[in-house]
Amino acid sequence: MAKVLVATEKPFAPAAVDGIKSVLNNAGFELELLEKYTDKNELLKAVADIDAMIIRSDKATREVIENAPKLKIIVRAGAGFDNIDLAAATDNDVVAMNTPGQNSNAVAELALGMMVYMVRNKFNGKSGSELKGKKLGIHAYGHVGSLVAKIAMGFGMEVFAFDPFVAASDIEKDGVKVLNSVEELYSECQFISLHIPANDKTKKSINYDLMMKMPKGACLVNTARKEVIFEEDLLKVLAERPDFKYVSDIAPDCKDEVINKFDGQSFFTPKKMGAQTAEANINAGIAAATQIVKFLEEGDITFKVN
Ligand code: 3PG
Repeated sequence: MAKVLVATEKPFAPAAVDGIKSVLNNAGFELELLEKYTDKNELLKAVADIDAMIIRSDKATREVIENAPKLKIIVRAGAGFDNIDLAAATDNDVVAMNTPGQNSNAVAELALGMMVYMVRNKFNGKSGSELKGKKLGIHAYGHVGSLVAKIAMGFGMEVFAFDPFVAASDIEKDGVKVLNSVEELYSECQFISLHIPANDKTKKSINYDLMMKMPKGACLVNTARKEVIFEEDLLKVLAERPDFKYVSDIAPDCKDEVINKFDGQSFFTPKKMGAQTAEANINAGIAAATQIVKFLEEGDITFKVN
């Protein structure tokens, strides 16, 4: 009987775990659950005899993969797979997958929610401003970016996007204006919503020059990855521009300095929570379990990323 480990330092909603269990049990697979673990050794121990693994932002390092001699597949229940050592997976004949789109709505709703929170002065009772009529730039138009665009249009925002990997016609059919460079996007839009993945090309790519291009009252919203921000530059921008706001779903490494010096210009969730809804957990968790069943039973590699 194949054994599937669900290893989640930040657990799924209970309904999602029930759904995963039912998909696996219906296929005759066994579920092993490791939630809220605090020590890497707990994970190393848990992977010793598993055939498959479902994770969230949990780190599937080379050490973890090499401690799992029977492991055949890792599914990241979510979009970003920067937490999986893909080379180590490939070296050990382990298939890595993600579940694109399954938790996107939750992340998109949080992006807009954080924008409202900031333009309303964190709901402190002082007069704020509205999103209606403002320009929003979507930096990378994937599953989350396109949903952010749709919700923002409901607020009456004017939406722009830059994404060299998506055909302009696919973006324009959503009523979004396409800009031809990242510089143009940042120069045009008071609000920017970041949706780029973290990789060697994008890490630290949101730098001083780009941030300084944003118009007065700038609000940079990051529900992607903290690593894409050049943090030294962010500190410089916040110091030089009291009108500049940075909001992020997961605090930067320089969080203490930002909060001490620029509290009114920033907001950070205490724990990454863009995808932390029952709906997103159920969608991503069940998709992950289903992908594992299809891979182990039929060799289906539709969502393989390595
Ligand atoms: C993702 O890449 O899907 C999101 O960042 C969600 O991550 P999480 O499952 O760790 O909340």
